[in-house]
Amino acid sequence: MTRPSKRLRKAVLPAAGLGTRFLPATKAQPKEMLPVVDKPLIQYAVEECLASGLENIIIVTGRGKNAIEDHFDAAPELERFLEEKGKRELAEQVRQLSNMIQFSYTRQKEPLGLGHAVLCARELVGDEPFAVLLGDVIIDGTPPATRQLIEAFEATGTGVIAVQEVAREQTRMYGIVDAQPTAGTHWGERLLRIRTLVEKPSPEQAPSTLGVTGRYVLPPEIFDCIERTRQGALGEIQLTDALVLLAQQHGLHALVVDGTTYDAGDKLGFLKATVEFGLKNPELGAAFREYLRSLKL
Ligand code: UTP
Repeated sequence: MTRPSKRLRKAVLPAAGLGTRFLPATKAQPKEMLPVVDKPLIQYAVEECLASGLENIIIVTGRGKNAIEDHFDAAPELERFLEEKGKRELAEQVRQLSNMIQFSYTRQKEPLGLGHAVLCARELVGDEPFAVLLGDVIIDGTPPATRQLIEAFEATGTGVIAVQEVAREQTRMYGIVDAQPTAGTHWGERLLRIRTLVEKPSPEQAPSTLGVTGRYVLPPEIFDCIERTRQGALGEIQLTDALVLLAQQHGLHALVVDGTTYDAGDKLGFLKATVEFGLKNPELGAAFREYLRSLKL
């Protein structure tokens, strides 16, 4: 296995989708700004980047997504207000968010698919490997899922994407990998070499039950692969199709990440994340647990 020479510094967070599964909530507000307990979804992904050593974050936005930029901007009036009210800790939290990370933004003019959204970040990424985190997926893992992928990327010298076991009747909701476990690494059967990927196959046609879950570490060669990918039936450029090319030409691995994944862009996934993070919250957890127990379900 070869070692890549460049250290990972950058992450791309595509957040330009229409969020149709969450209408009407997402009609005038970005789905990535829906809060789970007290933080918008996209902040979970940003904090995962920071905890994974990535400090350069590129957010792909679209029409009606200004709230995302405002959220990560400095807010001196708010900090001053909190300090004057003696809420130093809250003021510090607000300050840290915009100080510790360098944010850049690029726009996807039309939501032409995830592959196209990633391609929009090409100039800002340049010729170096980078991570992709979907702004509406939360992965609760220690170490963070992206950190786990970076380690596998450094060991294999190829791109690595996060996968998880999904129920066979749900393969239609995922990109599914056709992959073979690698031998001789500490990941055991959790690290697999990808032969190919299939976007949303029927349960009968799915080559496995390992679904792609919204975290990727990719070499810059992915951009040429996306450019060579044609628009699919719905006019979208799928990242999955570009990953098939990448796997064939440069190699690609899948890692079954250690952690729980919430597709919070989906209503049920969002509710599950809200309950789990509510229960874990140091201030609210105990009272919330008591409340849930009191519901005679
Ligand atoms: P999704 O397919 O979950 O997002 O894409 P969507 O299209 O907004 O949602 P639905 O299916 O209509 O409800 C995963 C991530 O990729 C981004 C989305 O913003 C989301 O964070 N995305 C998707 C883009 O940035 N551009 C696109 O063209 C499509």
